Amino acid sequence: MLGIIGGTGLTQLANLEITHRQVARTPYGEPSGALTFGRICGQDVIFLARHGYGHTIPPHAVNYRANLWALKDHGVDRVVSVATVGGIHPGLIPGTLTIPDQIIDYTHGRAATYFASDDKPVTHLDFTFPYCEAMRAALLQAAARAGISLREGGVYGAVQGPRLETAAEINRMERDGADMVGMTGMPEAYLARELELCYATVGAVVNYAAGRGLSAEGIHMEEIQSVLGEVMLQVRHLLEQLVTNDAAGLCTY
Ligand code: HPA
Repeated sequence: MLGIIGGTGLTQLANLEITHRQVARTPYGEPSGALTFGRICGQDVIFLARHGYGHTIPPHAVNYRANLWALKDHGVDRVVSVATVGGIHPGLIPGTLTIPDQIIDYTHGRAATYFASDDKPVTHLDFTFPYCEAMRAALLQAAARAGISLREGGVYGAVQGPRLETAAEINRMERDGADMVGMTGMPEAYLARELELCYATVGAVVNYAAGRGLSAEGIHMEEIQSVLGEVMLQVRHLLEQLVTNDAAGLCTY
């Protein structure tokens, strides 16, 4: 079953016919909120709002382990994560949707593995390609069918937050090779790998990164708000098309 993790601007899915909600408990504590079970275009999905349904949990305090564990525990085997990002690459202007293919992790102090307790052997998993290629391909195919323009590939720089970056930090990230910056991509992607979930991210660009473009003099929240509604509408269409493809047997993930 498909799991959808919604970020800022996507605390609910307008096109989801909700069947029920369930509070989940995990060995790692409670997820960000109750799991929302429902159907999109007749396909079963589970939705979870990463920051809680009232958007009260900041990126560094999200219980990423509980979120993914709860989804898997309820039958999810593939996950689309939706995350807002700031655009560093000049082609990633606000309003763009993107499917990153790489990650640089700048976060710290987050519970980043399920193999942390004394009774578990130290485990190092391959993470050369952090996203599930089959899911990325399915998203790209869905976008093409829905006529949604999507930028393929790019490096997601995961920062700690909740503060936004300085212009110098963005310059450094660009030198590192990051194309976009967001606060929630890690450890979520790696934990999904540990749970053997097929996982990919839809990055929704909602602002120019600090010091770039219209953010040259600073990032303005009103600008983010003005882009968020429209870009999340595109995300909804994309998800609808993804599950429709799924129903038609077009997805290979
Ligand atoms: N920086 C970090 N995270 C973000 C940004 C940003 O500019 N925009 C959306 N999420």
